[in-house]
Amino acid sequence: MPTQGPIPVLTLDGPSGSGKGTIARAVATRLGWHMLDSGAIYRAVGHAALAHGLDLSAVDAVAACAATTRIEFRDPGDGGDTRVVVDGRDVTDAIRTETAGAAASAIAAIPAVRTALVAKQLAFRRPPGLVADGRDMGTVIFPDAPFKVFLTASPAERAARRYKQLNAKGLEVTLTNLLHEIEARDARDVSRTVAPLRPAADAVVIDTTGLSIAAVVTAVLAVVQKV
Ligand code: C5P
Repeated sequence: MPTQGPIPVLTLDGPSGSGKGTIARAVATRLGWHMLDSGAIYRAVGHAALAHGLDLSAVDAVAACAATTRIEFRDPGDGGDTRVVVDGRDVTDAIRTETAGAAASAIAAIPAVRTALVAKQLAFRRPPGLVADGRDMGTVIFPDAPFKVFLTASPAERAARRYKQLNAKGLEVTLTNLLHEIEARDARDVSRTVAPLRPAADAVVIDTTGLSIAAVVTAVLAVVQKV
């Protein structure tokens, strides 16, 4: 069926713990659109690189790993969370640890890795629309997206959210460590030379500190409905 005009995309960028994942899922469900969790792609590559015993600063080897690693998102069909499958192995839980997050952030600073992952991300743009969650969705991957949102929240609030999430999964973490990790990751993501974390010039910035999930979902949906 021919589509009228380009397939719409809502980009949701922001630092870790700003609530992007939760909000992206809720908004995608409400709109009936597809979802791209681009952070899971970087996490999957970081995980694969570590599993292959690569030194994460070995730029060429990690870029080759990014180009060849097979990453699939599978709907379990029972209403449960999307499964992330890397080279045939289910790594859904393994890529959610802070170690995997740090590995993702390290390999994400390598320009050749980012280039190797562009086509994989563009392939998610399918009718009737896409909600794309990440750091550079509005600035680099989908610069022509008609709807762009940048979510923020204070580092303390983001650390507290991560703490709750990881604790609920039975992972042992401390709030102080999480806050340090979040601040270190933010600093890396903001200061890298390629695709640094920043709002697109045409993004609506929403500070979610102290806001409920429902309130943020409403604010994001208003951006899509207003245009
Ligand atoms: O969003 P999430 O915390 O899963 O992302 C993990 C890491 O992957 C981020 O800290 C960031 O360094 C990297 N990332 C990125 N570009 C994206 C998504 C994630 O650089 N679009």
